[in-house]
Amino acid sequence: MSRLFDEIARKALFTFDPEVAHGLSITALKSGLVPGCPNDKDPRLAVELAGLKFPNPLGMAAGYDKNAEVAGPLARLGFGFVEVGTVTPLPQEGNAKPRIFRLPEDRAVINRLGFNNQGHKAARANLSNHARSGLLGINIGANKDAEDRIGDYVTGIGAFADVADYFTINVSSPNTPGLRNLQSREALAELLGRVLAERKARASGVPVFLKIAPDLTDADLDDIAAECHSHPLDGLIVSNTTLSREGLADTRSKAEAGGLSGRPLFEPSTVVLAKMRKRLGTTMPLIGVGGIDSAETAAEKIRAGADLVQLYTGFIYGGPMLPSRILKGLSRICNEEQIARIGDIRDSRTEDYASLPSGA
Ligand code: FNR
Repeated sequence: MSRLFDEIARKALFTFDPEVAHGLSITALKSGLVPGCPNDKDPRLAVELAGLKFPNPLGMAAGYDKNAEVAGPLARLGFGFVEVGTVTPLPQEGNAKPRIFRLPEDRAVINRLGFNNQGHKAARANLSNHARSGLLGINIGANKDAEDRIGDYVTGIGAFADVADYFTINVSSPNTPGLRNLQSREALAELLGRVLAERKARASGVPVFLKIAPDLTDADLDDIAAECHSHPLDGLIVSNTTLSREGLADTRSKAEAGGLSGRPLFEPSTVVLAKMRKRLGTTMPLIGVGGIDSAETAAEKIRAGADLVQLYTGFIYGGPMLPSRILKGLSRICNEEQIARIGDIRDSRTEDYASLPSGA
């Protein structure tokens, strides 16, 4: 039944341009047209991390709810946490349309949105207008024209310190020219220094995670790991979209500029995740994202080293009941493997993935 509902929803939405379809799905969630999925909460799926209690390890990734309009309805679909944004201090139009492209043969999407969002003020207003449920991450970024980009991240901490359960510093979008340079060692040292000083100044203990790209060399990963060790960062999110077009079946859209997400991103992002698990040790919280569209792919991210996982593109193709199906599947895996917690499978395949070459 849930698959039928998802198939009908997907077929209807796919008759529209991807960005129009996205807007319609937000409207449907806001209006309550999408039924919630009451999950029997399985205590084996709960994860405690960075001082937060996640009811399950599955989150909605950033970019779906850019303006923090539907965190509550998304939580009711089963997501254990919802990351809203990326939000920038000032409203921003983003790049010219069309800027989202479906690659159905590859179960993938290319986007070059460029941080289109209504700014901090609107997101804050949306958060206070809607009832909250579930854990809320706020993904913060910099305006394209900001003179002091790092200053924009600092402003983000101040703007949401009282409502965020955690922050994500997004330095890995490929669609704001130069943004990814903030991943270089020197820039990252300054960014983490200033952002974490702001958190301290506000006497706020809100965890701060850093979200990185999949298109990084081993040397880049060494640099990032070194900075993670020398700052009181709470975790790493691996990864954002990729610039690679390797192995795509769709020949029409692959020439579009932007970041690729979905199934083809699963392996490259999982390789970087495993490489970071090896570099950062067993205690650093890691969130795995990229190409998850089933319980098996979610479990595989955990086996590669993730404590928590997130998805976005899987939701476009799989529909609103996907979170519930994934959670049921994770419970089934707990049964089959006779484990007390889903986290018990973590790192069982880290070595396998870490030994593969990264995409960069
Ligand atoms: C994204 N993603 C993203 N990430 C981020 O940190 N800030 C953002 O604003 C966006 N925006 C965005 C828009 C669209 C249309 C897509 C498809 C993706 C990246 C997203 O959070 C995630 O990291 C990647 O998409 C990989 O996961 P999936 O989609 O393969 O599950």
